[in-house]
Amino acid sequence: ALSLLAPEDLTGMRVVVSAGGTREPIDPVRFLGNRSSGRQGVALAAEAAARGAEVELVAANITADVLAEARHPRITVRTVGTAAQLGEAMRDAAASADVVIMAAAVADYRPAEASDQKLTKESGILDRIDLVENADIVAGLAASRPQGQTIVAFAAETLSDPEQRRDRARRKRERKGVDLLAVNLADAEHGFEKADNAIEIIGEGGAVVASADGSKRQVARALWDAVQRTRS
Ligand code: CTP
Ligand code: CA
Repeated sequence: ALSLLAPEDLTGMRVVVSAGGTREPIDPVRFLGNRSSGRQGVALAAEAAARGAEVELVAANITADVLAEARHPRITVRTVGTAAQLGEAMRDAAASADVVIMAAAVADYRPAEASDQKLTKESGILDRIDLVENADIVAGLAASRPQGQTIVAFAAETLSDPEQRRDRARRKRERKGVDLLAVNLADAEHGFEKADNAIEIIGEGGAVVASADGSKRQVARALWDAVQRTRS
């Protein structure tokens, strides 16, 4: 009866999931960050483990209460802070993975240099921060992936028109070279810091291969179903 409740259809699969959001230090007391709680990524890790997968969760700045949802004998957690650390952890973990899901929100830019002293108004240099672009982690993974590996990216978009949102997601999927791209609307009512989520999954040729709307765990279920279909 248990197997009916939790089909172990991912048994033997090795998966890597990134979750949370990177923080790029400005000085010892400040950073550039984003609003990702890590809940969707943690739900993806928990769902995969429940279905039998061996999971590496690369967690960027996730609070203990959210991370507690990922406690499972088949989940190993690596914690990272910056985009550079996330990239290094992902390249290491992805080398032996069947599936990589990049659910973390990565800072697009980082301060060109982090000051080791707190910047002050008095110093007159706190009104401008020089930025340098961070490397695209998932595009790098896709460009040098091992044979047979499936790669999934996420995109939070604020375009409220569904067709415009899909088109942007299609271009993003092509640009990154990933198999699937899950796109969600991130406005004041949806997405970041919310319990629920609504996504569409763009696949081969830009087709909408699945959609899901509900708790982050329900969305995770639909995403793993879509991954299974693309691999079979
Ligand atoms: N991503 C990444 N490395 C980056 C930036 C993004 O791996 N430096 C990944 C994210 O984890 C996500 C996907 O790329 O899975 C899409 O992120 P998004 O921010 O939507 O894409 P960008 O290419 O940064 O485009 P935008 O200008 O819309 O932010
Ligand atoms: Ca971005």
